[in-house]
Amino acid sequence: MPLARRQFLRSAATVAVVALMGETRARPAGADRLGFSAVPATLRDAVTVPPGYEAQVLYPWGSPTGIAGAMPAFAPDASNSAADQAVQAGMHHDGMHFLPLDGSADRGLLVMNHEYTDEQLLHPDGARPMTAVKAQKSLHAMGVSVIEIALTPAGWRQVLPSRFARRIHGQTPIRIAGPASGSPLMRTAGDPAGERVAGTFANCAMGVTPWGTYLTCEENFHVYFGAPKMSPTPAQRRYGLGADAWVDYWRVDERFDIAKHPNESNRFGWVVEIDPFDPASMPVKRTALGRKHQESATCTLTRDGRLAIYMGDDSNFEYVYKFVSRDKVRPGNDAAARAANRDLLDEGTLHVARFDADGRGQWLALRHGHGGIDAASGFASQAEVLIHARQAADIVGATRMDRPEWIAVDPASGAVHVALTHNSLRGQPGMPPVDAANPRAGNIFGGILRWREDAGDAASNGFAWDHFVLAGDPAVPGSGARYPNAEADAFGCPDGLHFDSAGLLWIQTDMSGSAIGKGPMAALGNNQMLCADPTSGRIKRFLVGPGGCEITGCALTPDCRSLFVNIQHPGETRADGSGSPNSAWPDGTLPGSARPRSATVVVRRRDGGIVGT
Ligand code: FEO
Ligand code: CA
Ligand code: CA
Repeated sequence: MPLARRQFLRSAATVAVVALMGETRARPAGADRLGFSAVPATLRDAVTVPPGYEAQVLYPWGSPTGIAGAMPAFAPDASNSAADQAVQAGMHHDGMHFLPLDGSADRGLLVMNHEYTDEQLLHPDGARPMTAVKAQKSLHAMGVSVIEIALTPAGWRQVLPSRFARRIHGQTPIRIAGPASGSPLMRTAGDPAGERVAGTFANCAMGVTPWGTYLTCEENFHVYFGAPKMSPTPAQRRYGLGADAWVDYWRVDERFDIAKHPNESNRFGWVVEIDPFDPASMPVKRTALGRKHQESATCTLTRDGRLAIYMGDDSNFEYVYKFVSRDKVRPGNDAAARAANRDLLDEGTLHVARFDADGRGQWLALRHGHGGIDAASGFASQAEVLIHARQAADIVGATRMDRPEWIAVDPASGAVHVALTHNSLRGQPGMPPVDAANPRAGNIFGGILRWREDAGDAASNGFAWDHFVLAGDPAVPGSGARYPNAEADAFGCPDGLHFDSAGLLWIQTDMSGSAIGKGPMAALGNNQMLCADPTSGRIKRFLVGPGGCEITGCALTPDCRSLFVNIQHPGETRADGSGSPNSAWPDGTLPGSARPRSATVVVRRRDGGIVGT
C-alpha cells in the first residue's frame, strides 16, 4: 500500500534518471524449470501473461459474494448502498488462499483480504464530505471475502449462492483472545470488558494454519483514526497514530476519534483467525502474536510439531517476528481438527529477529520480566508487551529493517524468504544507517532476504541469513541491484511472496503508482509478478498488471494448474485523492471510460498444464 510514497518520490528524484524506453526485450528461456517465455516490461493497461496462457477476471470489486437472498449487482456509478457493499466484494483485494472442498482441485473456497478503499471511486460524489452513510459503506468495503468457486468447461465460476459465502468487514463482531484480551488498554466505552471489537480492516497479507483456518493481517490500521487536535503519546506515535487520517471516519463516528477513545486503536494491528468453513463462526483476534502494522502470518511446523508463524511489520525500520506456539498442533484439517486447535494461537512465545553482520541471526524473546522488558522499562504486563511489541523489540536490540512485507517458506529447503520492499530513508541524515541486512542507503528498489533456521527447525533460536536478490534496474547507475544470475529479469519493490507446492517462488511487486514508468523505474513497466526457480536462481517476469495497480495475493489449486492473483488499485495515480485514474481496467479500454476495479484474476495454461513450468 502506498504509505511513505511521498518520501519515496522525494528520494527517487535524487537518483540519476536514465532515459530508457518503457519496454524491455524478453530474454530467452534458460535451462531451468521455468518453461514459459518471459513477458516484457510494459505500461499497457491490461493483464499481460506469457504466450500459451490466459487470464480471466473472476471477482471484481462489487461482485455479489453469493449469500443466498442478498446478491445485489454491482452499480457502475458506485450507487450501491452500504448494505449492498456488506454482501459484495470489497475494494483493494490483497492476500488470498484457495481451500479445496472435498479434496478437489476443481472446487473450493477462495478467501481473500480487502485492504483499503479508494473513497473517490467508492461513492458517486467522491471522498468529501465524509458522512455517516459513506463511512458505513467504506467500512463494509474492507475486511475479508469467502467465496465458493468451481472449474467448469467455460473456466472458473463463482458458485451462486453458496452456503459458505461470507463477508467479514469493518463492523463484523470479533472476539479478542490471548494475553491482551481484557487488558485495561483494550477496554473502551463500547466494550468495558476489552474482549469484543467491531470489525477488522486494513487487511493486507495473510497466512493459513495447518488446520485450515485463514489468518488475516491488519496492516495500516492507524490511518483510520484521527482527532481535531491532538498531540499523540510516544506509544501512539510509534504506531503512526496522530498524523492526518486517510479516511475521516472520526468526523462522523466517535469510536475513531483517538482523542476521545484512545484505546480503540489498540484493538487493531492484530492477526485475526477466521474459519472459512463455518460461516457462523466468530473471527478471533489473536493477541499472543503481537500488534504491529501486520503483514504476513506465514505458518510452518517445528520439528516437534508446534506451530511457528513468521510475521513482517511493514513500516520503515520495523522488525521481523516469529511466534512459536506452546502446544503441539493436533493433526488434520477437518472440523474436528479446527475444534481441537481452537485455542492453540493463544499461548506461545513471540520473538523478534536480530540480523548480525557475520550472516548469523538470533530470535529474541519478547517476554515480560526478561531481557529488560519490565515495569522499569514501561511494561506492566505481557499484555502491554504484545500491544506495544515494537517498543519491546527496541529493548532487546532487534534489527530495524527496510519494510518487511510477505514471508514465504521454501518447501524443499526450508529457507524462509522475506520481501523488504524499500526504504528511501535508510542512511539519510538522522535516520538509521545501512547495516549488513539492509545494505543500501536510500533503498528505493528493495530486495528479498532469506534465512535457514539452525538444525532446520523453526523452533531454533539461531539462524543463518543472506540476500536472495537486491532488486532494481542494473542499468541505473549506483542502483546496487544484485540478482542471483545474469538471466534474471529486473523488477523493483517486491511485496507479495509465495512458494507453490512445486517449489517455485512467486514474487509480486508494489512500486508506487506515482513512480511507475518514471525515473529509475522507467524500464520496469507496471507492477508485475515474477517466478523464481530458487535452485537455478533464474527469475522470470510472468505477468504484468494494468496501469497504476499493484499485484498482490497468490494462490494455486493443489494441482498447480490454476493460479489466482489479485490486481489491486488499478488506476491509482493520485497521492492526494485528486485527478483521474489512469486505468479503466477491467471494464473499459480507455482511461475514464469505466471506474477501475480491483479484481481477482485466474491464470491457466491453454493446454491445462502446470503453471510456471
Ligand atoms: Fe499492504 Fe505492506 O502491503
Ligand atoms: Ca502493498
Ligand atoms: Ca503487502
